[in-house]
Amino acid sequence: MENYIQRLPKVELHLHIEGTLEPEMMFAIAQRNGIALKYRSAEEVRQAYQFTNLQSFLDIYYEGAQVLIHEQDFYDLAWAYFQKGKTQNLRHAEIFFDPQTHTERGVSFDTVIHGLHRAQQDALSQLDISSKLIVCFLRHLSAESAMQTLKQALPYKDWIIAVGLDSSEVGHPPAKFKEVFDEARRHGFLTVAHAGEEGPPEYIWEALQLLQVQRIDHGVRCIEDEALVKKLAQDKIALTVCPLSNVKLRVFNTIHDHNIKKLLDKEIAVTINSDDPAYFGGYIEENYLALREGLGLQKQDFYQMTSNAIQASFLSQEEKKRLMHELDVVQ
Ligand code: ADE
Ligand code: ZN
Repeated sequence: MENYIQRLPKVELHLHIEGTLEPEMMFAIAQRNGIALKYRSAEEVRQAYQFTNLQSFLDIYYEGAQVLIHEQDFYDLAWAYFQKGKTQNLRHAEIFFDPQTHTERGVSFDTVIHGLHRAQQDALSQLDISSKLIVCFLRHLSAESAMQTLKQALPYKDWIIAVGLDSSEVGHPPAKFKEVFDEARRHGFLTVAHAGEEGPPEYIWEALQLLQVQRIDHGVRCIEDEALVKKLAQDKIALTVCPLSNVKLRVFNTIHDHNIKKLLDKEIAVTINSDDPAYFGGYIEENYLALREGLGLQKQDFYQMTSNAIQASFLSQEEKKRLMHELDVVQ
């Protein structure tokens, strides 16, 4: 089974590039940028990763991102993710980045996206991993700030497939960003949003109806609303579920309590993703393995969820067909 999981052609649809910053790289980049960290070693940083909820993680995650200043820093960050992905048979990734985390401290949008884009090009040519970028708005900041971020993204429309919504969920419903998402769609961006991670099913309804999203990020709390479950299944709205993240941030007490199999059995298009792998103890393959260990999922479950990810990606029909063929030959 481990061997089967290893060989599956993986597609990751929920990955924050700032969440791939491993403590060793945090130290190396801090040193070359002359930034003092409040930790003495990578080990000490890891020990600080004890989270009680989403906010307790976000506080540390935004702090870590402060070391990223130059284009090369963003390149190195993304390149390391792709290299790791190569060892796990990652074939395609749709990657979130949080421009406001950087522009708020004087690092330009252009610096961030140029570094990421260059790493994407190298990943495609040297590692045969394709990828797309999704600009995320931080929902704890204002709608005006999100609109300003959208304006900064417009010159890079060809490098960005979609806009998304992340950060502190409760108290910041999707409705707050309706106008920004309307404007983004007018410019041709696809849309996704984090909803139903800590927030209630109503936020998932809002993301669908007001933001007109193609996918829901997390979405695990949909299970509390039968009509919503039915709609997600009927309309084939994929959920980008992140098992290890959900346990680390106490959405579920343990991996054994995770509801992903229940959602799968309700015919919702669930997918397996890593969210912020450097913080949650595993990349995409470790998330697959955790579900094997914790829920005893079978080959057919992993086949289905991998197929769901291919189909829910923003790849062309032709590219999806090619990946489906890769999937179908794995025995
Ligand atoms: N930013 C990075 N990871 C996140 C998550 N799991 N939820 C909301 N915002 C995030
Ligand atoms: Zn996320």
